[in-house]
Amino acid sequence: MLYYLQVIALLGVARGRPFFITPVPISIKTSAPLNRCGFHTLVFLSVFLYFYLFEYSNFHTFKNIQGDCMIITVASYKGGVGKTTTAVHLAAFLQTLAPTLLLDGDDTRNATAWSQRGKGFSFKVADEVQAARFARDFTHTVIDTGQRPKQVDLKVLSEGCDLLVVPAVPASLDTDGLVLMLQALHDIGSDRYRVLLTKVPPPPEPEGPQLRAGLIAQGVPLFTVDIPRLKAFEKAAAAGVPVSEVNDSRAKRAWDAYTAAGKELFTHV
Ligand SMILES: Nc1ncnc2c1ncn2[C@@H]1O[C@H](COP(=O)(O)OP(=O)(O)O)[C@@H](O)[C@H]1O
Ligand SMILES: [Mg+2]
Repeated sequence: MLYYLQVIALLGVARGRPFFITPVPISIKTSAPLNRCGFHTLVFLSVFLYFYLFEYSNFHTFKNIQGDCMIITVASYKGGVGKTTTAVHLAAFLQTLAPTLLLDGDDTRNATAWSQRGKGFSFKVADEVQAARFARDFTHTVIDTGQRPKQVDLKVLSEGCDLLVVPAVPASLDTDGLVLMLQALHDIGSDRYRVLLTKVPPPPEPEGPQLRAGLIAQGVPLFTVDIPRLKAFEKAAAAGVPVSEVNDSRAKRAWDAYTAAGKELFTHV
């Protein structure tokens, strides 16, 4: 019994769960009167209770959204790297936790057009003009940006948010833009950003792991999760819905990737 409970406790602590919740060890003597069946039932119940409470109730995320609002800005020097796709899906994820506003800061209003093609998003979409009116009603705000921001704008953007998400596609032409963006962030002294690898080709194609290794070697902060290159994202944009609502065999994989990125936000801000 003691052994079982200690294993559960250690697992919990290793996975970052609070120590106080780890079961209090019960000595062999205490459990001796229990018959074999009772003993196993007790073990099963403690394992079930432990994992139910701290796995499925998503303790850490829950704890983080208590009162904390977040402003996330998605920006890059390069077009077509998945800024709007990232902004839409991070907003869709955050909306599952608390009221979320997507601010469409791109002149071409791609996110707004996306939301209008379908039955509408679960989160609110507004432009900068409406921003002031809406911002106070939402816990989380995700800002989609447009064309390459000037250095001064980049400074304002990065200082005005909790985290600047920089999508980057592992392809040589796209990484030219990334290098310039990282240089500009370095020049303005920003450390409140994180690169998200998007449109990552499937294994065994080497581009994704290669870019990740190169950025890590340079000390560039990265999301742990990659966003895979999947047709489901294009279908979602065409249908005017987030990828979670697309009828495609890979839609779940696509949505899971942004869910993982969304959860990571709470550890990076
Ligand atoms: N992970 C992905 N896999 C496949 N296609 C993607 C992915 N992310 C974005 N796209 C597609 O790439 C194109 C550009 O994406 P978009 O989000 O509009 O980029 P940006 O806002 O940086 O210009 C769109 O056609 C979009 O559907
Ligand atoms: Mg865009």
